[in-house]
Amino acid sequence: RTDVVRRGRLSGERDSDMQEFLSSMDADRYLAEADLLVDIAHVLMLDRQKINERKTTKQILKVLLKLADKGIPEDVFDDRFEDVHAGIESLVIEAAGPEAGGRMHMARSRNDEVATCIRIALREKLLFQMILIAGLRDILLELAEKHTENIMPGFTHLQHAQPTTLAHHLLAYEQAFSRDFDRLKDAYARVNLCPLGAAAFASTGYPIDREYTASLLGFDGLVENSMDAVATRDFALETLADLSIHMANTSRLCEELVIWSTSFVKFVEMDDTYCSTSSIMPQKKNPDTAEIMRAKTGTVFGSLAAAFTITKGLPMSYNRDLQELTPNLWRGVHSAGISTWILLGMLETAKFDTKRMREEAGQGFSTATELADTLVRSYDIPFRTAHSIVGRAVQKGSLTLATLEKAATEVAPGISLKKMGLTQKEITEVLDAGYSVAVRDIIGGPAPKATKKAIAARKKQAAKD
Ligand code: ARG
Repeated sequence: RTDVVRRGRLSGERDSDMQEFLSSMDADRYLAEADLLVDIAHVLMLDRQKINERKTTKQILKVLLKLADKGIPEDVFDDRFEDVHAGIESLVIEAAGPEAGGRMHMARSRNDEVATCIRIALREKLLFQMILIAGLRDILLELAEKHTENIMPGFTHLQHAQPTTLAHHLLAYEQAFSRDFDRLKDAYARVNLCPLGAAAFASTGYPIDREYTASLLGFDGLVENSMDAVATRDFALETLADLSIHMANTSRLCEELVIWSTSFVKFVEMDDTYCSTSSIMPQKKNPDTAEIMRAKTGTVFGSLAAAFTITKGLPMSYNRDLQELTPNLWRGVHSAGISTWILLGMLETAKFDTKRMREEAGQGFSTATELADTLVRSYDIPFRTAHSIVGRAVQKGSLTLATLEKAATEVAPGISLKKMGLTQKEITEVLDAGYSVAVRDIIGGPAPKATKKAIAARKKQAAKD
């Protein structure tokens, strides 16, 4: 079987290096099923518009339906065909004969065909990615529900900053992932538009019905301008950008799991399934899965960078450069999908050490803010003055009544905390990490009451999504 597209205008066989260099066959495996759907819809439309006779339609459909039923034979995926579209058309012509089979590719081009196929394959992958992110959010919400009372240190600059709860921490990720979900949902609306009928770029003189093929293929509408329809891959850029953001969020979580797994933090122990050991150090348990996932983020960013670079500066309309973008799209989509899928299990099986978290929660003077706030609220000291007094006491090494009093005489002469009525008992009370968390009871805060409300609201949103 020869490539029916090439044989008229060009002569001479290309050697295998040239065939491999030019063919998109490897990446086109992702498009094979979509291509059959597009062929079937197109042939039905040609029949309905009386462009093809019923007899022709039947002959072509017989071949296409057999392929859909039995699978596409391996020899279609050969580099001697420029792509899967040429491979399948060549097979149809061989099987249905040139009289009928040669009437399949009327009123279209591979330019609109490939753009349509990519969108069909991509929308499915988008839906799958959205399902995975929905699952991820459910797991985070379930975990959060279990840990509303579990106090842990919160960090800025990776330094102990203020106490929070594990639930509050997990909810931060859930919220980020829900934005990732929204972005993909938005992208889906633009991906699910049909370019078919644009032909090479200038549409066609045949009386085709673009809306009919679009509806048969489950699209929500058309990419109307026929030049834009074949030229644009902005839907792929948008998808890769959205996936890159999702992976950036994922990577931060992975980074934390790696840090939390160290023996000097020990906030979490990942299940053995998600860890590797060392070939030399027998004691090692390394959180490799989180590391690989952190690195997959780079792969997805790389796919986006490649896609941007390939499309920038292309003149209208179709250019063969676009073929080189598609494998990058699948690489990005696949790397993100497999990462989210594996992340579900990794989180579900992780063992959080809430005792360790509680131990660390009050370290590094992490409740100093609450002490300063107490000086403001109970003794009417301006916040900046209270901030300086507490800061100076920390510099002296402790937050006791005696040190605070000494600090006050240094940074705010005239203020005596003792005279104002501050007691060691009150100081001890407000320096407790649990107290610090409990008073942060406003919308979005870590107090158990606030996080419980947040979890209920987020669950509702997740169910709606
Ligand atoms: N294989 C090409 C692609 O993936 C589609 C075919 C367009 N070929 C052409 N010579 N106009 O973009």
